[in-house]
Amino acid sequence: MKEKQLLMIPGPTPVPPSVLLAAAAPMINHRGPEFAEALAEVTAGLKRVFQTQHDVFVLTASGTGGLEAAVVNMLSPGDTVLSVSIGVFGDRFASIAKAFGVKVESLDFEWGTAADPGKIRERLAADEKKEIKAVLVTHNETSTGVTNDMAAIGPIVREHGALVLVDGISSLVAMDCQTDAWGLDLVVAGSQKAFMIPPGLVFVAMNDRAREAMQKASLPRFYWDLGKAKDYLKLGQTPWTPAVPQVFQLRAALRILEAEGLQACFERHVRHGAAVRAGIGALGLKGFADPKHASNAVTSVRKPDGVEVAALRKLLLEKYGVVLAGGQQSMKDKIFRIGHLGYVSQSDIVATLGALGLALKELGMDVDAAAGAAAAIEALGG
Ligand SMILES: Cc1ncc(COP(=O)(O)O)c(C=O)c1O
Repeated sequence: MKEKQLLMIPGPTPVPPSVLLAAAAPMINHRGPEFAEALAEVTAGLKRVFQTQHDVFVLTASGTGGLEAAVVNMLSPGDTVLSVSIGVFGDRFASIAKAFGVKVESLDFEWGTAADPGKIRERLAADEKKEIKAVLVTHNETSTGVTNDMAAIGPIVREHGALVLVDGISSLVAMDCQTDAWGLDLVVAGSQKAFMIPPGLVFVAMNDRAREAMQKASLPRFYWDLGKAKDYLKLGQTPWTPAVPQVFQLRAALRILEAEGLQACFERHVRHGAAVRAGIGALGLKGFADPKHASNAVTSVRKPDGVEVAALRKLLLEKYGVVLAGGQQSMKDKIFRIGHLGYVSQSDIVATLGALGLALKELGMDVDAAAGAAAAIEALGG
């Protein structure tokens, strides 16, 4: 049956029925009182998720739009930034800065590994003239399934004085991101990840340091002007027509998250991450990420010997209705990725590993097809 699919990619993620239905409400005036009420509720909820007392803005865009907003609001032409990249999305953040005439110095780490906070400290310590205006860093690198230690990196950058601009597009809700406590000046998150909403919204949190930087920054900006977002938020509006149905969906999703509790939600992601990794290992597969920094939102798996990634994903989709992601750029055909962020249940994890075992066996791998699901059940406490 084509219609029933288990969507296990790292975004877009499955959407709970009540969140789907929230979009089916009649359209309202986006400059009227009902929208103002919804925007106030979601902004308060987002502040709890970002663990910040400062501003959070809801923009109508995909995640990349939020990254562009970060660049154009924080920087001026000719500024220097340090790009700490561990994969495709770290590189994208740097590319956006370059596109706007910002000088980008790269501090890249091997894909599959996390950024070494010590190396960041070293590079910043050498910047005696304080030329580095900002550090661009990805919290959860979705392309490799690696999570950076933002609790360590944030304070190191703060010590130097540069701004910390964080791509938290696939990390928020899936893992602890203490925006204020870790000194993260600007954090971007995407609706289609652990927030359990369809694509279309991006959230940008920024503190007072970022607001001061915005006042001095001179890169051209219009749609992404976060100063306008702040002014309009005071009126209960967004500067431009927002994706109203997704704002309703955000409200419904945040209510689900409030009921679960943020801490319980993080713990669920930790449990699911551990179960997927246990299942992968039991099937004789190797994770791509450094196990010390393996993400609890997405697991990257090395291509098994004798099995093509494309064939495996095709069989999983067509026979088992399980959708997994492939590798990106240089990792294409070398890894596949299992998303386990957002609206994912224990039984989704078990079913995915069961289907993976069956598919691997069918493609000729000498494997106990049930081993992955069994290990996941065991890890989940069964
Ligand atoms: C970490 C990270 N950064 C940036 C992006 C880009 O977001 P979008 O595709 O919504 O523009 C993604 C999307 O997968 C991501 O996971």
